[in-house]
Amino acid sequence: MGQRVVEMKDLTKIFGEKLIAVNNVSFAVERGAIFGFLGPNGAGKTTTIRLLLGLIRPTAGEVRVFGERMTPGSSDLRRRMGYLPTNPRFPPKMTPITYLDFVGKLFGLGVEERMGRLSALIRSVGLLGDSSREIAGFSTGMVTRLGLAAALMNDPELLILDEPTSGLDPSGRRETLELIAELGKEKTIIVSSHILSDIDRICTDVGVISQGKAIFSGSIKDMKKSTRSHVVRLELEGGVEKLCGALKAEKWVVSFETRGDFAVDVVFDPEMPVAEAVKGVTELVSRLGLDLISISSSTSSIEDAFMGLLRDEESRRFLAAA
Ligand SMILES: Nc1ncnc2c1ncn2[C@@H]1O[C@H](COP(=O)(O)OP(=O)(O)OP(=O)(O)O)[C@@H](O)[C@H]1O
Ligand SMILES: [Mg+2]
Repeated sequence: MGQRVVEMKDLTKIFGEKLIAVNNVSFAVERGAIFGFLGPNGAGKTTTIRLLLGLIRPTAGEVRVFGERMTPGSSDLRRRMGYLPTNPRFPPKMTPITYLDFVGKLFGLGVEERMGRLSALIRSVGLLGDSSREIAGFSTGMVTRLGLAAALMNDPELLILDEPTSGLDPSGRRETLELIAELGKEKTIIVSSHILSDIDRICTDVGVISQGKAIFSGSIKDMKKSTRSHVVRLELEGGVEKLCGALKAEKWVVSFETRGDFAVDVVFDPEMPVAEAVKGVTELVSRLGLDLISISSSTSSIEDAFMGLLRDEESRRFLAAA
C-alpha cells in the first residue's frame, strides 16, 4: 500500500436541518493516484471537495490530508494543494500573465519564481498565443486551461479538479484530459466528473457517490468486474442452442444468457479487451456455421457500468465493501 495523501473517514455534511449532502463517506487516495470522483448532478461531489479543502466543516467524520486533519484553519495544508472549481471565473480585465502573477503573489512567491513558473505554465496549458489578451474574450476551454495553470502556480503536491471538462466540446475535453494525465505523472490528482468515459480514460482509481453515499471505491477494473458489464450481445438467424453449447467450453466466457430465440448475451472476462471478445465470439459463430445478424457490445464506455451501479438495488453491498 502506498502512502495515503487523502483520507476521508465517515465524512458527513448536513446543510440546514436535514439536507444530507454527504452521508458517511470514507474514501482514500494514495500518492501518485489519479482518483476519479464520480457521481450524477447533486450527488455531493462539490460538497466533498469543499470539505477536503477545509472550506466548510464536516457535520461528522473527518478529512486527513498529508496525514493531518484538515480544518478551515489549515492554511499550511492548503498551500500544498491546488484547486480548480467548476466553471471558474477570473477578473475579465486581467490577462493570463497578470492574473497568474497575482496568484503567485498570493502564494508569496518572489518575482523571479513567479515569472519562471507562469511562463512555463502558460506554455504547458497552451495559452502562449493568448497570454497578453484580456480574459473577457476567452472561450470556456481557454478559461479552463487558465484555471489549471492558476491551480498549479504554487506547485501543489495534490491537485483537486471539480468537473474540469464541464462545458467543453469533445476536442476541448480530450485536450484537458490529456493535460491532466500528463500532470498525473508528477502529482496526486482528484478529478470529479459525471462523465464516465472521461474518468475511464485517465484515472487509476475511482470513487462513486450517489445521493451523498459512497457506492463504490476501488480500481476502474474492479468497478467493471463488480458491475459485470462486459457483455457482447449476438443476434443470430438461428442455432442459439448450438452456440450456447459451444460457449460453455470457452475459458474467457464468464456466463451467458439467451434473449428470446435469436439472441445471446455473453459476459466475458473483464481483463479481456472488448475487441478480443468480439473476435472470439465471431470466430465461434463462423466455426459453428451459424449466421450472424448483429453484434453489439456495451462496454466501449463504462457509462453502463456506472448506471448499473447507481441502479443496483444492492448498492448497499458496495457501501459495505467500500
Ligand atoms: N451551501 C449549501 N447549502 C445548502 N445545500 C447545499 C449547499 N451546497 C450544496 N447543497 C446541496 O447538497 C447536495 C449536493 O450538492 P453538490 O453541489 O455537492 O453536488 P455535486 O455532486 O457537486 O453536483 P453537480 O454535478 O451538479 O455539481 C445538493 O442537494 C445541493 O443542493
Ligand atoms: Mg459540483
